Amino acid sequence: MDKLLIQGPTTLSGDVEISGAKNAALPILMCSLLSSDVLELSNLPDLHDIKTTKKLLQAMGVEITDGKNTVLLRAKSITSYEAPYEMVKTMRASILVLGPLLSRFGEARVSMPGGCAIGSRPVDIHIKGLEAMGALIKISHGYIDASCAHLPGKRLQGAKIFMDQVTVTGTENLMMAAVLADGITTLDNSAREPEIVDLGMCLKKMGAKIEGLGSDRIVVEGVRNLHSANHTIMFDRIEAGTYLVAAAMTGGKVVCRNVDPTKMEAIIQKLLECGVHIESTKESITIKSDKKIKAVNITTAPYPGFPTDMQAQFMALNTVADGVGEITESIFENRFMHVQELQRMGAVIDIKHNTAIIRGEENLEGARVMATDLRASAGLVLAGLVAKGTTQIDRIYHLDRGYEDLEAKLNRLGANIKRVS
Ligand code: EPU
Repeated sequence: MDKLLIQGPTTLSGDVEISGAKNAALPILMCSLLSSDVLELSNLPDLHDIKTTKKLLQAMGVEITDGKNTVLLRAKSITSYEAPYEMVKTMRASILVLGPLLSRFGEARVSMPGGCAIGSRPVDIHIKGLEAMGALIKISHGYIDASCAHLPGKRLQGAKIFMDQVTVTGTENLMMAAVLADGITTLDNSAREPEIVDLGMCLKKMGAKIEGLGSDRIVVEGVRNLHSANHTIMFDRIEAGTYLVAAAMTGGKVVCRNVDPTKMEAIIQKLLECGVHIESTKESITIKSDKKIKAVNITTAPYPGFPTDMQAQFMALNTVADGVGEITESIFENRFMHVQELQRMGAVIDIKHNTAIIRGEENLEGARVMATDLRASAGLVLAGLVAKGTTQIDRIYHLDRGYEDLEAKLNRLGANIKRVS
């Protein structure tokens, strides 16, 4: 298994090109199931989760032609309506085939996602929404079996749906289910993440009728068919945020390119509170830091609140900042696994319920640590960049799921990171 060896401390400087967003690309790849025509995507990040999704779609009969950061997908005919355990176990986002399969074919079988490192993560809201649209859903032997065979034309029926909790993939699954349903579907308490807007834009290019993207009420008027489309995946705001926090911690001047700063307000505001200097254009963010950063308090929340996917990175920042910072995780119940690893590097952190209280230290020390999930791993990499000596990060397959060329991009900015087997 690969490991990263990070030699610290470093100062970062230079330009970094931000890749396409994993969490936009995954649902958008699933859109291909909604039409028999070609879907052409560009700015696709080269990530493990993207490969897993393509494998899943291919196993269902989708024809796939790969290019460099591009892909052509065509679901002319489908040979299987199933997302098996082996796939869902490695990538929870596989649940996103449920809505499209039911919508176009009136049938789907998806393994129940189990618990995962960051919390229990149920899918009850996805299921309740599809039931409200008339689907018959049976959960047995670890599988969700869903059918519209009893409905007129085997089509889902438009419905008024209130989602009890704001859920990103829940909103995406139900929006994809609604685009080919019979009638109008209203999704209340929808998530407003930019990745959902990107998915909606792609669906609209395919001929879907959707209103209210980016608000908490999305209204979808079902159509009979969707057609071919080209779409460019939006930038990864969490990847960009990770490089900005790295620069804030190490000191230096870093320019993130291919971004839209208006989609990163909560992250930029917190960085400004730390005392760094930030300048934005329409497509870039420049950060200048003298390494003297102040601790910040954070509470994670659905968009436009502070993203849970940036919590571990700001935790790493607070460990070397001036003062005491409090970080409250309100989305996932078990997303503090990086704390113990950061403590092994000398960080001073107390946990009270879902709040971590971090007292900034002048120095961290390199140590052997273990990656536990994608964003926790990113937090450990950032700590490794400022720690004295060598930090060895084990189990970095988590990072390969969500950060394209992480060590190459950081090394180009001046880091000293080696990947060893
Ligand atoms: N929830 C339910 N029932 C449901 C669905 C969600 O109770 O049916 C709860 C969850 O347990 C959680 C909260 O609602 O407490 C929000 O979860 P959400 O459904 O929004 O999370 P998700 O859709 O499974 C996506 C991202 C995550 C990101 C979260 C929150 C994708 C593929 N994944 O997950 O990304 O942390 O939204 O923003 O879009 C990552 O990239 O590292 C990652 C974990």
